[in-house]
Amino acid sequence: MFHWLEKNPFFFAVGVFIVIAFAGLIEILPNFAEASRPVDGLRPNTVLELAGKNVYMKDQCIACHSQLIRPFKAETDRYGQYSLSGEYAYDRPFLWGSKRTGPDLHRVGNYRTTDWHENHMWEPTSVVPGSIMPAYKHMFTNVADLATAYAEAVTVKNVFNTPYGDDIQPGKKAFEAYKPKILEEAKKIAADMKNKDVKDMVAQGKVPEIVALIAYLNSLGSSRYDAKK
Ligand code: HEC
Repeated sequence: MFHWLEKNPFFFAVGVFIVIAFAGLIEILPNFAEASRPVDGLRPNTVLELAGKNVYMKDQCIACHSQLIRPFKAETDRYGQYSLSGEYAYDRPFLWGSKRTGPDLHRVGNYRTTDWHENHMWEPTSVVPGSIMPAYKHMFTNVADLATAYAEAVTVKNVFNTPYGDDIQPGKKAFEAYKPKILEEAKKIAADMKNKDVKDMVAQGKVPEIVALIAYLNSLGSSRYDAKK
């Protein structure tokens, strides 16, 4: 019945194109129809972690670090479970990156600690001899922008239905009411740090960028979801 088609390269090519395009649509369309599906137990980043994520973006950590573990043995041996799409469901934007001058950071919260990050960000060679990563001393004095991070949480909650609690509401008053929670979280990070100026700043209600950044780095691991290791 289709002999004429096999003898006609042009229509055969058109037929092949239609078949492949249809198969492609069958694969792709359901993903658009279904809202992003978070992995089990996933929580969105806290406001402090969002502020740290903004520092991560501002200081261009993405230029040297990816956050996407590929399903290859060499990678899973080193970093753990490969990255799943549902783990990024609440990340706007996600920070996959495409350049690895340094290691992948998607699960760094599972094997690095607050005090390690403190030493490393202050002077990378103090913990990793020969490290070519730049030092980020300015983060120990720069104050993190909590108001912007809070506004971002409000926005994704309202626009994308990201599951934040009822205490995340628009407006300056709501932010002021919420701020003690952010400071409480920051104090817990600062308690594990040794830099006295950082501790003093947090005690005075100002959060240095390094505290927010470390909160974010610590969230890059199982603490945000029940990832299989
Ligand atoms: C110029 C490239 C470069 C930039 C920019 C950079 N890093 Fe790195 N980073 C590295 C290299 C190389 C290593 C591996 C050596 C080391 O651990 O210091 C590394 C290691 C790390 C590690 C340790 C990971 C592990 O598994 O041991 C962390 C955490 C880290 N970087 C965080 C950051 C953060 C946060 C920023 C942005 C503020 C940043 N890096 C910016 C190059 C970079």
